[in-house]
Amino acid sequence: MAHTIVIFGASGDLTSRKLIPALYRLFQKKRLPVDTQIVGVSRSEYSHDQWREQLTESTAKFVGKGFDSEAWQAFSQQIFYQPGDIQQTEDFQALGEFLKSIEPEGPVDRVYYLSTKPQLYEKAIAQLGASGLNDDSNGERRVIVEKPFGTDLASAKALNHAMHQVFREDQVYRIDHYLGKETVQNLFVLRFANTIFEPLWNHNYIDHVQITVAEEVPVGRRAGYYDTSGVLRDMVQNHLLQLMMITAMEPPARFDADLVRDEKVKVLHSVRPMVGGDFASDSVRGQYEGYLQEEGVPAGSQTASFAAVKLHVDNWRWQGVPFYLRSGKAMSCRTTQIVIHFRDAPHLLLGSKTRVPTANQLVIQVQPAEGIQLHFQTKVPDTELKTKLSSLDFRFQSECGGGAMPDSYQRLLLDALNGDASLFARSDEVELAWGIIDPLIAAWRSPAAPPLQTYPQGEWGPEWCTQWMQQQGRQWFDVCPVLKG
Ligand code: BG6
Repeated sequence: MAHTIVIFGASGDLTSRKLIPALYRLFQKKRLPVDTQIVGVSRSEYSHDQWREQLTESTAKFVGKGFDSEAWQAFSQQIFYQPGDIQQTEDFQALGEFLKSIEPEGPVDRVYYLSTKPQLYEKAIAQLGASGLNDDSNGERRVIVEKPFGTDLASAKALNHAMHQVFREDQVYRIDHYLGKETVQNLFVLRFANTIFEPLWNHNYIDHVQITVAEEVPVGRRAGYYDTSGVLRDMVQNHLLQLMMITAMEPPARFDADLVRDEKVKVLHSVRPMVGGDFASDSVRGQYEGYLQEEGVPAGSQTASFAAVKLHVDNWRWQGVPFYLRSGKAMSCRTTQIVIHFRDAPHLLLGSKTRVPTANQLVIQVQPAEGIQLHFQTKVPDTELKTKLSSLDFRFQSECGGGAMPDSYQRLLLDALNGDASLFARSDEVELAWGIIDPLIAAWRSPAAPPLQTYPQGEWGPEWCTQWMQQQGRQWFDVCPVLKG
């Protein structure tokens, strides 16, 4: 079956940095369906060759060592460019004509990738409908939508509604690139292809779960956008809640898009709504020192670049097990980790002299240093009964011959081409996630907000966040991953 990928917003950063390199790598690995053509659409006037030339440079840069000019030469012949303005209906008609001129006779599956400004999504969808480009009588028609999917519940609902006027839900692929990360997919394997973890994966054995997405870099050039978004919209509503859903979900009957997403959605339904004083007692908001000096940040901005949020999942499995979600910019190091903190041993044989925290921790290193560590107590040799925390350390890098992990977009683009939506967000999932985050955003703007705490760049967030955790008898897992080799 022939495929066409139409990228709207072709001259944008995402196309050159992520999409084309991912498609090229798939081509190199012979995973891209043979008869796949790629058409870039944006307002700039380029010839096919001019666009290919631009992409040669950017792809070589972003692919790095694995770039091979001969393979690129062959691949780039499948790339085309069609100028078009999303506001202009006739440009969509011209696009339709162009697609017919390059596509073979017979059925062709098409994927429309919306990589434009989010403000243009609704218009683009309406235009696809008005020009009949959604007609799936001669092949599948799918649409991939980049984050952000709305800026709050109301706008997400409006966008879903606009989508559903033109495409069925099973044709819509909402990207959360965290779901394309190998280590995130490995969570399904860790939990559901092993028997040793599942019996312990509940409130009987787990004290709490920490999910941290820390970034070392400050907001930099994206400050203008970031200031309108803040960490809750930028990271928590999507990436952190996705990690939480996969950590907390029940096993689906099969790895099927709807069954997987049904289980994820049930987790969001179980999240206890925050009310009244919860906002102040169960969340910490921070801003790094120097944020206000970033170019594009208005004077006195109260936008949070750091958040820690305590969520309760009210179901049988997780009753009484808080999930701490934490994310920030300009932190100590770049690390995304899920830490399962098991309960303390119920009875210590070792006497008060040797009493040390006994709790086991399972650390899922999503990135970098992708892997899993299990921390447990061992006896210090040649002591009476002194114990220390030791680790079993699994690294994907050593397991997979040291090769770099594939970029998320490879997997996600391939899945969309093959019609597998398991790793994409469904409409109800996105709306429920906004339903959790919206009240928090509103509370953070109200007198009920926890105070905005500043933190020095290069720290694990505000000092208060450490104390807040200690007051609950817990401790953050503030460990930067050690990159080997
Ligand atoms: C994006 C956010 O969705 O994810 C960025 O908008 C953030 O602010 C990025 O830097 C993090 O992604 P990754 O894959 O580098 O962890």
